[in-house]
Amino acid sequence: MIYPVVVYGHPVLRKVAEDIDRDYPGLQQLVSDMFETMYHADGVGLAAPQIGKPIRVFVVDGTPLAEDDSEMDGFKMVFINARIIEKSGEIVPMTEGCLSIPNLREEVNRESFLRMTWYDGDWNPRDEVFTGYKARVIQHEYDHLDGVMFTDKVSPLRRRLLQRKLSDISKGKFEASYKTIIPGQRVR
Ligand code: NI
Repeated sequence: MIYPVVVYGHPVLRKVAEDIDRDYPGLQQLVSDMFETMYHADGVGLAAPQIGKPIRVFVVDGTPLAEDDSEMDGFKMVFINARIIEKSGEIVPMTEGCLSIPNLREEVNRESFLRMTWYDGDWNPRDEVFTGYKARVIQHEYDHLDGVMFTDKVSPLRRRLLQRKLSDISKGKFEASYKTIIPGQRVR
């Protein structure tokens, strides 16, 4: 099933999401629905809060970015109860977007080295290192679990300039090719 995507300004995007248990009801279906929702919206990552669920689950598939970086080809993963163990390396600027902030793209600085622990979709414990573009996509999705949006990370000047756009987006003044839920609407 394709979920509507929750849009900037909705309180669920600002919650600190909670870990889940292995027997979380319908987990496999949820993960499969998250991929379906992400692909439908042409995204490369989706975190559970973006479909109204404040739990620490996100999915990524970087394949559409393979033209820019061949490492992204087949970079399809499920992250459950993820923790960042180490974040370091060169700080790199890159333009980002987010399905919860339609049609807005801004440059964000992020570390280029990441060590993470998490459970994958088969509940295998994982402990791995990511660099470059992968580290960026993961950090963006991970931030959603802590209630952080990429627009929080732009420079204070840019953030001031964005205020009107973000306010418009939260009022539903945007075009998107996928279904959305704006603040004040019930999450289904
Ligand atoms: Ni996002």
